[in-house]
Amino acid sequence: MCSLVQKYNVPGPRYTSYPTVPFWDISTFSGKKWEETVKKSFHASNSTTGISLYIHLPFCESMCTFCGCHKRITKRHDVELPYLKSVIKEWRLYTALFDDRPIIKELHLGGGTPTFFSPENLKFLIEGILRIANKATDASFSFEGHPNNTTKEHLQALYDVGFRRVSFGVQDYNETVQKAINRIQPFENVRNVTQWSREIGYESVSHDIIFGLPHQKLEHVVHTIERTKELKPDRIAFYSYAHVPWLAGNGQRGYNDADLPAGDEKRAQYEMGKKMLQTSGYQEIGMDHFALETDALYQAMVTGSLHRNFMGYTSSNTHLMVGLGASSISDSWYGFAQNVKNVEEYQNLVNNNIIPLYRGHILTEEDQIIRRHILNLMCQFKTSWSAFKLHLPQMDSILERLYELAEDGIVEITEGNLKITEKGRPFVRNVCMAFDLPLQKKAPETKLFSMTV
Ligand SMILES: C[S@@+](CC[C@H](N)C(=O)[O-])C[C@H]1O[C@@H](n2cnc3c(N)ncnc32)[C@H](O)[C@@H]1O
Ligand code: SF4
Repeated sequence: MCSLVQKYNVPGPRYTSYPTVPFWDISTFSGKKWEETVKKSFHASNSTTGISLYIHLPFCESMCTFCGCHKRITKRHDVELPYLKSVIKEWRLYTALFDDRPIIKELHLGGGTPTFFSPENLKFLIEGILRIANKATDASFSFEGHPNNTTKEHLQALYDVGFRRVSFGVQDYNETVQKAINRIQPFENVRNVTQWSREIGYESVSHDIIFGLPHQKLEHVVHTIERTKELKPDRIAFYSYAHVPWLAGNGQRGYNDADLPAGDEKRAQYEMGKKMLQTSGYQEIGMDHFALETDALYQAMVTGSLHRNFMGYTSSNTHLMVGLGASSISDSWYGFAQNVKNVEEYQNLVNNNIIPLYRGHILTEEDQIIRRHILNLMCQFKTSWSAFKLHLPQMDSILERLYELAEDGIVEITEGNLKITEKGRPFVRNVCMAFDLPLQKKAPETKLFSMTV
């Protein structure tokens, strides 16, 4: 395993979309084309699966220095209402494109910190969204809560408007690590929010843990998972720390590269964490995720209905995902679009009745085939090109790369089919990269992606 880590630990995408954002063809993209793809996708989706909504709530009270998310640090809470009003207005701009009342199958509040907002304001947001939409009978509403500021009132208010899933950021319970990442995260706070969620009736509670953080040692990962097991969350996101200090607005400059566990040391943290989770009844779901067998995500993996989009893994296989809020990305299945990142610019554009896009990509036929393979690999650890419609003219060059992965025991290839081995699972991003033709044609000149392992 060690030499494989050395060989395959290269910068690579996390494949929450294909094509990945740096390879979007912005020259052929326009707001008009985007709206056409949204209308087309809405027609097909609304009557079958319903649609997904992602709402980005970017504010946080303090800066965790490891964080790669798009956020705005402020202690001023008068930013809440103007922002939420713009989000509801943006949703109106989208619903004006639809010829039917939208049915929301999936809604996720991400951030930033959704629980920066008051319970009343979050309720105001959801009621504003649902005023011009219906909630599917089997809808899945979820949000990200910060254990240090989520109150019982937040949990109750969101439960009352339909939320049944919540995830809490934990990261690591060791004090030295917490100081390095500027996030003091007492266990008691995590225990309280987890217990309150259960008492109120949430069906799935998830914890985010990270390995590879500055000053983090194997024993810290072991300790964090031991403590996590005491609370038995239904899901655990066990993320590899993504070191992307070149991204604007993140504070990953507060420590040196030498403070970060890397290569074999980091991989040992993952292997140990995975072993501990699996012996405690958690099943590995795609990349980074573990779930108890009773959780919907595990059931989706078993039935083959697991899907991956900008929100990560999901059990709702919707083809239209509208992203609202600053920096949000939308996926119409035929195209992607991202909103402007600056909060003031976002609010100005929306308040002038403009869908606040700043870049996007319309998928070609080739893109659609490659995306299918990448989704198969990320969600099922296997794919097949034996069916004509999933065959690519460049299959010979893709196979050349795949045969090398087969020689290293990462994949098994039989007549038009590929399966990632148990040993190969940590290298799923590398397998996806073999299919990623634009990346193979022209590796980015500047640093864009975190390391794959
Ligand atoms: C938006 S935050 C969670 C909600 C809330 N703001 C909090 O911190 O508790 C989403 C999650 O992304 C993960 N994350 C953020 N930056 C990361 C990075 N650089 N590498 C890996 N995971 C990261 C963390 O686990 C974090 O809990
Ligand atoms: S981890 Fe959460 S609270 Fe910390 S900066 Fe990132 S989004 Fe904000």
